[in-house]
Amino acid sequence: MRLRCFAIVCLCAASLSAQSGTLRDAGAKYDILVGAAAGSHLLADPEYSTILGSEFSQLQAENEMKFGEIHPRPDTDPNPYDFAGGDALIRFAQQHNMKVRGHTLVWHNQVPKWLTEGNYSAAQLSAILHGHISTLLKRYALKVYAWDVVNEAFVAGGTMRHTIWYDQPGIGAGAGTKYIEQAFRWAHEADPDAKLFYNDFDAEELNKKSDAIYRMAKDFKKRGVPLNGIGFQTHITLNFSSPHKLKSHAKNMRRFAQLGLEIHMTEIDIRLPDASPASFAAQAKLYGEITKLCVQQHSCKLLQTWGFTDKHSWIPGFYPGQGWALLWDEKYQKKPAYEAVLEKLGR
Ligand code: G3I
Repeated sequence: MRLRCFAIVCLCAASLSAQSGTLRDAGAKYDILVGAAAGSHLLADPEYSTILGSEFSQLQAENEMKFGEIHPRPDTDPNPYDFAGGDALIRFAQQHNMKVRGHTLVWHNQVPKWLTEGNYSAAQLSAILHGHISTLLKRYALKVYAWDVVNEAFVAGGTMRHTIWYDQPGIGAGAGTKYIEQAFRWAHEADPDAKLFYNDFDAEELNKKSDAIYRMAKDFKKRGVPLNGIGFQTHITLNFSSPHKLKSHAKNMRRFAQLGLEIHMTEIDIRLPDASPASFAAQAKLYGEITKLCVQQHSCKLLQTWGFTDKHSWIPGFYPGQGWALLWDEKYQKKPAYEAVLEKLGR
């Protein structure tokens, strides 16, 4: 009997020490989820799924919950939605005790042709978007804990981006951020428990875009619009290593946190011009700094990379000649950046 207890204790200790080296366990000590954007078509690759399921406490569909993918046919079609990819990712997450973050309900990109070429009136577009948001939030209630409700609605100068939802006729919500407000209200109405985020890129630092987002967030909080947090995408280069930029990011996060908002770093990647040891070392240092910023900001509850292996990253396709932006290389080997993140999470 004694021997059996000893064996069980050893086994538990062994499995605990094996787990203590993962990003997810390290993040948990700070109440920080560590996530990755993922694709259901990649889950059949055992190297991919083993790392995703063991190292991360959250996943988010890189593409499969976007309008064009999940709602590829008009509502007049008997089967307007395609939930297969999103459902598969959710199943995987549940099997691996991971949370799921939803991405994204209102965006100018990856909108299907039936919508852009449909010549819909404002009333029709409004009904379509309302239906889309309600359908997803209700279907995935209790399964998706947080949503990027609106993505990238501002341009660099801090003015509104021209999108099918905003431009005339748009959804007919009115000027400025009214259409964003409407989307948040619809999302909250459909799933009052979901955490609702506004998400954008190049808004990490104090600049005109982050100022515009801040003004909107402050106004929403004042008027009780159901906004719970801000997602900073964090698609960056080594230029971000300057102390000035890092300080500016910390200050910016602080002002949003002071509004009572949760901060998520939602799409981190640090693209490089080459795969030299020097570039990998500089990248590791910057990943460490970004991790530290999240650890030091109490309201920062998510560190999520946009993919996790350089084998599957959007960067080379969109920035020819650049890449190597993630924590694992093309052969699923951990890079120095992985160790730097783990280190800053206190292992
Ligand atoms: O699904 C089609 C497939 O049917 C077709 O055969 C193939 C041929 O090109 O294209 C496939 O669609 C691609 C899609 O990814 C799914 O793989 C699109 O061409 C491609 O443009 C699309 O790229 C995605 C991009 O968003 C679109 O803007 C990237 O994978 C995705 O990483 C990227 O993610 C965005 C976030 O959602 C928002 N923030 C910026 C981030 C990076 O751009």
